[in-house]
Amino acid sequence: MSKRRAYIRSVGRFLPERRLTNTDLERMVDTNDEWILTRTGICERRILDPGLGNSFMSVRAARECLERAGVSAKEVETIIVATVTPDRLFPATACVIQRELGAKNAWGFDLNAGCCGFLFAISTATQMIESGRSGKVLVIGSDVMSTIIDYADRNTCILFGDAAGAALLDVCPEPDHGILDFVLHTDGCGEDLLHMKAGGSRRPPSLETVENKEHYVSQEGPAVFKVAVTEMANVAARILERNGLTGSDVSLFVPHQANLRIIDAAARRMGIDNGRVVKNIMKFGNTTAATLPLCLYEAAVEKNYDIKPGDYVVMAAFGAGFTWGSALMRWWE
Ligand code: COA
Repeated sequence: MSKRRAYIRSVGRFLPERRLTNTDLERMVDTNDEWILTRTGICERRILDPGLGNSFMSVRAARECLERAGVSAKEVETIIVATVTPDRLFPATACVIQRELGAKNAWGFDLNAGCCGFLFAISTATQMIESGRSGKVLVIGSDVMSTIIDYADRNTCILFGDAAGAALLDVCPEPDHGILDFVLHTDGCGEDLLHMKAGGSRRPPSLETVENKEHYVSQEGPAVFKVAVTEMANVAARILERNGLTGSDVSLFVPHQANLRIIDAAARRMGIDNGRVVKNIMKFGNTTAATLPLCLYEAAVEKNYDIKPGDYVVMAAFGAGFTWGSALMRWWE
């Protein structure tokens, strides 16, 4: 008997209307379009209107995802929300989403793994489905990065944008298809290089933390870049090796969108040419936990890439923690 496997049955997304372009940023900090474009690949990002919060975007992405699958919210058994920008520290944003969707039969929780959040969440969901513990799992990657960015800091404000992506994972109807493998890593030595200084239990919010701007993303960009560029390429290559595949077997590479140079380095290392790499960093910037589902959406819904059912797809990400990893699957549509 073949193994019970999970697959991504459908995807949905939400993108705020408002755009923040490189030209806008030139008026806000000491930077320029040419620097941003050549160093990162980003042209513009989306920004959510203040006060709406993570669940506003997540619920909309989830509704589109369920609608595309023809599945009602009541059929969802588990909701996992990958984010570093929840509505509140507690309760989990998954609870708000469960209520708003009317997912009466679901339990759920938030998962924080920085830019690897979606990857870690689908790994968790896959194992729940494979073990038979859960049927349909709604996995959401959603971040309102604009709420934790200092728009006076040119090192970080050019990089991030807001968005949500959702994926419905279900029992795969085809044997040997669906989600096949993961390679996942965490190394807490990265803590000081990419973090938020205050707001947690080690340094709770105070007048001082607000005045010191400690509630924003703090990143040693070039130091993080060096680790990210090596590890994302290594982990993407590793999943191929251990499954006896090479770059030429892969129809689509779906990388986290932090920097175009990191994406290109990983693709080169795997031997995958440009046309088989999903890139949308130009339009959306780094949307943290949302980048991977936004990329899947471009392939599955917008059909921007040449891919057919059963084709091998590799996803890879690197983020705060440090966290990094890759996933191998066979395309579902
Ligand atoms: N405009 C102009 N100059 C800028 C700038 C901006 N928006 N932001 C930073 N700089 C300057 C810095 O002040 C620094 O100047 P200095 O050398 O005089 O101190 C210099 O640019 C650093 O540039 P560079 O050497 O080109 O750095 P880089 O190649 O590492 O690129 C990042 C900078 C931030 C784009 C890159 O490091 C990055 O993308 N890092 C994060 C990647 C990541 O994966 N994060 C984790 C996942 S979220």
